[in-house]
Amino acid sequence: MTGTNETRRKVFLGLLGGVAGLAVGGGAAARVLVDHEAKVFWLDGGGATYTFGVNELGQLQSLYWGAALAAGDKLLPPVTVEGNSSNEVPIAISPYEFAGFGGGLTTEPALKVRFPDGVRDLDLRYVSHESRDGRLVLQLKDVKRAVHVSLAYAMDEASGILTRSATVENRTGNWIQVDQMAAACLNLPYSDDYQLSFLSGRWGGEFMLQTRPVTPGAFVLESRKGVTSHQANPWIALSRGGTGEESGPVWFGALGWSGSWRINVEMDAMGGVHATAGYNPFDFNHRLKHGESLASPVFHAGFSNEGFGGASRIFHRYQRERILPHAPAPRLRPVLYNSWEATFFDVTEAGQIALAEKAARIGVERFVVDDGWFGARNSDKAGLGDWVVNRKKFPNGLGPLIKRVNVLGMQFGLWVEPEMVNPDSDLYRAHPDWVINFPGRQRSEARNQLVLNLARKDVYEYLLKKLDELVAGNNIEYLKWDHNRTWSEPGWPEVGPDQQQRLYVDYVDNLYKLLAELRRRHPKLEIESCASGGGRVDLGIMKLTEQVWTSDNTDPYDRLVIQDGYSHAYAPAAMMAWVTDSPNFVNKRVTSLEYRFLSAMQGGLGIGANLNHWVEEDFARARRMVEEYKRIRATVQLGSLYRLVSPRNGAQRSATLSVSQDRRQAVLFAFLHSSMMRAAQPVIQLRGLAPDTVYALRPIAGNAAPRTPSKASGAYWMGNGLKVALEGDFQAAAFVLEALEA
Ligand code: DGJ
Repeated sequence: MTGTNETRRKVFLGLLGGVAGLAVGGGAAARVLVDHEAKVFWLDGGGATYTFGVNELGQLQSLYWGAALAAGDKLLPPVTVEGNSSNEVPIAISPYEFAGFGGGLTTEPALKVRFPDGVRDLDLRYVSHESRDGRLVLQLKDVKRAVHVSLAYAMDEASGILTRSATVENRTGNWIQVDQMAAACLNLPYSDDYQLSFLSGRWGGEFMLQTRPVTPGAFVLESRKGVTSHQANPWIALSRGGTGEESGPVWFGALGWSGSWRINVEMDAMGGVHATAGYNPFDFNHRLKHGESLASPVFHAGFSNEGFGGASRIFHRYQRERILPHAPAPRLRPVLYNSWEATFFDVTEAGQIALAEKAARIGVERFVVDDGWFGARNSDKAGLGDWVVNRKKFPNGLGPLIKRVNVLGMQFGLWVEPEMVNPDSDLYRAHPDWVINFPGRQRSEARNQLVLNLARKDVYEYLLKKLDELVAGNNIEYLKWDHNRTWSEPGWPEVGPDQQQRLYVDYVDNLYKLLAELRRRHPKLEIESCASGGGRVDLGIMKLTEQVWTSDNTDPYDRLVIQDGYSHAYAPAAMMAWVTDSPNFVNKRVTSLEYRFLSAMQGGLGIGANLNHWVEEDFARARRMVEEYKRIRATVQLGSLYRLVSPRNGAQRSATLSVSQDRRQAVLFAFLHSSMMRAAQPVIQLRGLAPDTVYALRPIAGNAAPRTPSKASGAYWMGNGLKVALEGDFQAAAFVLEALEA
């Protein structure tokens, strides 16, 4: 907690005239302050304040969210906001924390339910609250019927990231149907110059940053695909007209959900801006019997006054300290080798051992066998679902390969795609009813495969057993968990028609349960989330997977743009990037091995090239780059990232800087993509260094311009900058700055 917040807490206690009924949380969660009399709630942390209260009708309404308010500030309870004409009911557009659809609401509801008698009116009013250990839970109830909602709030003390989620419980004595449910609605301070940034894309082109003005009406970001999706990622940022990379306010948030999701950003008739995030209401409903409840995903949201760079640094920190497995100390990503682009489905024991010997020579720490090792999997047409080792390719099982990999000093990892099945597989022949389908209708295939209905208990149990046996029976320390198609015909015929759409929630709940149980049984196991590249990257899956695969596009230049977009929302600590062959298999671009390394060294480094085609010089160069990487990887993965020059929009150059948390080491990556019109890398001003510390400059690759000092103060590198000597197309350089003892 900051000094300001601590002071305000004391003032607040004073204002309340005592501690009766005051709840103050503690621990790694930020303080929660409750003014019981005024029914105003505060969460303070990481330089941000979030406040809301109960209005004159008993509804929860936002008050303020942004930079920490000053000591002694006191907020009055909210009052409903009226439109400018009597043609709308007065409560239509107030900035609600969690509005039920009803009572004349015209903005996006957070919850919409249907009762057996056809009533679809829900008006949620405050009942009670409880604050414990930094967690604030409010109970709401419909004015007439026993539909209870609890809203959970917490704020991370260090980063100021607010987490919000909701649970609806049916105590009506009959069923209710939830037609729409969000985790939260977040309301922004009034302004008429908001810009919305979001990430969109496609296979091979994920995480493209888009920005557009927020204008009257709604803008919808969503996945209807059953999975997070390449097309849009559940992250948004709202900034002001003048906000830049390193200055100005940014409100941002990401939904932790790996199924169909929706974020609705709207500007109401009076200019209020609201962002509502949760389950995608498209084709959604979830029927609850009396006594049953439904929980929403979690929406994680934060604020920075230091532009997009400040926002992403806060979010990266939060992901390292609160989200990723082993948080607050996520493990460093080992250097891995994966032969997918080298061999595709043509994996054999001899072939993989030959690659493993070569990988070990360059310092690889984890050797991964990708698709093709099981069943009749010689192409993507057959075998998926049959998780038994293909004895033609591995006559003695995986044992000899794993043993050799371990003797070479590397961990062994394996590719799986548990949620899918080829119709041409033993699993599908035995259980054609296990896939998501509508009886009597077409079962549309994508990549020749169908989606197993993981919402089913038997499918869940089968997959747990198979994966458990696989990991337990072999020394497997890592699974690359793939997911290569989106949903179609989302039916679940075994349950009644009124239960079928529970699929959207129950599938993802079981996926999380499966991952968690596997991790519980195998504490050493690490997992990567992959979905034809970056199709399943979100804060839900990232709680259960150490790393994510951002794209199948491994072209090092395209990847810089993908990584730039990714880094706006997600931490380098989890981002994998590979050095593959040139020309690249996706776009045939030719680049140097050094350029490919420097692009991939900005996250968890992998090698995916065909090492059988390398000459001695390639091995020597790769060995040196891997050694260099190991010296800087803690800074790259766990440090603070500064996007100094953006590669977006066809920029001719780009640069990033990673600074270790103790500011003793910094790593600069600089790229010249095109030398058109004799463009060169001009001076780059660094950021985030300690001004009075002297840093020695050492090139990892490439050179600084002549007459660059070999050491200088942080103030010098940040003020005067560093000129990099780069000329020509697709050139790259990297430098490490090490703090010298004072
Ligand atoms: C898609 C992944 O993104 C690739 O890296 C590879 O694992 C293939 N699937 C295998 O089928």
